[in-house]
Amino acid sequence: MDLQKRPSWSSQIGLVMAAAGSAIGLGNIWKFPYLAGDNGGGFFVLIYLLCVLLVGIPVFISELFIGASSKKNAIKAFEVLDKPKSKWQIAGIFGVGAAAIILSYYSVIGGWVLDYEFKSIFNFFSTKTDKEVTEALDNLLATPWLVIFWHFAFMAMTIGIVIGGIEKGIEKWNKRLMPLLFIVLLVLIFRVMFEPGFLKGLAFLLVPNMSRVTPNCVLVACGQAFFSLSLGLGVLITYGSYMKDSSKIIRTSFEVAILDTIVALMAAVIIFAIVFSFGMNPDKGPGLVFVTLPILFNKMFGSYFISNLFFLLLIFAAITSSISLLEVVVTFLTEYFNWERKKLTIIGGTLIALFGVPSALSFNLWNKVTLFGMGIFDILDFISSSIFLPVGGVVISVFYGWKLGKKAVEATTGKPIAHFFSITLLWLTRIVAPLAILIMLIHNFIK
Ligand code: PHE
Repeated sequence: MDLQKRPSWSSQIGLVMAAAGSAIGLGNIWKFPYLAGDNGGGFFVLIYLLCVLLVGIPVFISELFIGASSKKNAIKAFEVLDKPKSKWQIAGIFGVGAAAIILSYYSVIGGWVLDYEFKSIFNFFSTKTDKEVTEALDNLLATPWLVIFWHFAFMAMTIGIVIGGIEKGIEKWNKRLMPLLFIVLLVLIFRVMFEPGFLKGLAFLLVPNMSRVTPNCVLVACGQAFFSLSLGLGVLITYGSYMKDSSKIIRTSFEVAILDTIVALMAAVIIFAIVFSFGMNPDKGPGLVFVTLPILFNKMFGSYFISNLFFLLLIFAAITSSISLLEVVVTFLTEYFNWERKKLTIIGGTLIALFGVPSALSFNLWNKVTLFGMGIFDILDFISSSIFLPVGGVVISVFYGWKLGKKAVEATTGKPIAHFFSITLLWLTRIVAPLAILIMLIHNFIK
């Protein structure tokens, strides 16, 4: 006997907001702009769009279908659709594992964002020199208790939302935070339109710079599309399993992919406009968000307002992604142990938070601990997002395209397999997506 009735999203828009909330995360804001800048601007954007269309959306559809038609967690779903002890479960096992690992370090970064928003509220940066702003990140990272404190705070917020359940926790908060995130983005775009570097930034993003283009760009674009859509680790199997109406799978996939891409582009416009207005180059990852931007905010009119809005934006983006990661684990635990969901959310979230402590310490006390030249944080990131994620993606896509095959595709599209859209989807999931992801996976090892 199940302890509670399986919940579901109260509306289609609730699912779209939740899935878009998962997809739109730190990756859109601190990784996409840099990657686009580094890999040929407009050309990269074009390749990225193709990757979303040909690889991302097919896997997205496969995941949603597996969830919606099994109504089970990311591991059990394969047993329901295949047979007990099915070998295909491996995708789910990798997925739930990867979700836990990614959440453990994603929350550490979420903690840095909280710290920066806290500092912004108290106008900490405004009185500081460029050098002092740069040192603020080093100082934070060199203080283990502070990094751990914020990491736990971020995880507590994540648990606090997930504990409310699908409808009253995840759906409710995504429906609030996603529109807010859009509003903040629009306000920031409006603000940077008055900066001298706005047009230059726009051109940098949209005009192809062929001298930067290498075959590698295609793989980078595909990897980013994959991570950005939250694919390969069962987030969408889990979210899909709470769908009431599985006839909306295709529509949901396109809507989420479009929202995710628009936000990545908007973030890039904002960041390039600011960076180019001061004649700088877009730096990579943490350096961009936690050093370059705060320095530049300081020099802008309305800096208090801009930096507060920007770090709020990051918090919204990060938390709506972290709740999806925790939900993958919680849905699995709830159905596996059949205990009360609330209890398992707290236990699961706390264990993952503890597991994240070594990542937090890898920036200070344990910064000498390395494997293959990588610190703890980087190792966990590599294992989860460069290995588990693509492996999950290949298995999911092959399971849908070959194992479930034509019947599943027809059920998804509502059209006979002879129809152009169905046949395209079938072969994208059978050949194109798995092959592209496999090449990405191999490339991750040899680069
Ligand atoms: N898509 C999120 C981002 O762009 C990250 C993420 C990956 C979230 C996988 C959930 C699952 O930051």
